Amino acid sequence: MMRLDKFLSEMGVGTRSELKKAIRAGAVQIDGRTALRPEEKVEPEQQEITYQGKQIGYVQYEYYMLNKPAGVISATEDAAARTVLDLIGTKKRKDLFPVGRLDKDTEGLLLITNDGDLAHRLLSPKKHVDKVYFARIAGRVTEEDKEAFALGVDIGDEKLTLPAKLQILCSDEVSEIELTIREGRFHQVKRMFEAVGKEVIYLKRLSMGQLVLDDSLAAGAYRELTKEELNLLC
Ligand code: URA
Repeated sequence: MMRLDKFLSEMGVGTRSELKKAIRAGAVQIDGRTALRPEEKVEPEQQEITYQGKQIGYVQYEYYMLNKPAGVISATEDAAARTVLDLIGTKKRKDLFPVGRLDKDTEGLLLITNDGDLAHRLLSPKKHVDKVYFARIAGRVTEEDKEAFALGVDIGDEKLTLPAKLQILCSDEVSEIELTIREGRFHQVKRMFEAVGKEVIYLKRLSMGQLVLDDSLAAGAYRELTKEELNLLC
């Protein structure tokens, strides 16, 4: 059971104060009768609630996989820049957030949800969830870099990075690598390469825990998680 105005605002119909007015003005019906009290308790899963004649379904949690494009920021709102939430055109709830941050110029897997417990499980430093990145690096990436990352490198924090797995896909003037890290420190991949004197020129996240970026999603595209993906995460 929840308040009618709260339910409608959670479903993104309007702000609490807008909804109070709209309800008192008769814009909302519950099971065919006009509901005039914003504080009325409703059971959204059992009752048919309409706003201006349109049925408002109840969704408790939403889970989207986004292939974040470069140029968009990992935040819920921003006065100037486009955010990852602006890309989720079919969202129903207004309390969605990105699980962790990717830099503005980083692409790839980003989970968008309003499930705080799941986010906590994925982000908690104690859980050591693997994150796999693909990157292009200016210059040759070497076996020494691989060894350094396996031992942990000094990126200017109190502690060295945890052991990370570097796979060199090609080593040339521009190298291509996959890096698996188990932490999520600020700018971590870029700072790890800086620590060995190299620059990341392209970065894309491929996976987070068991969740793998669907390679049919173009940059900027998204879809809901499947039941199987959700089970893997939960
Ligand atoms: N590491 C970085 O440096 N940037 C990201 O966006 C993610 C990991």
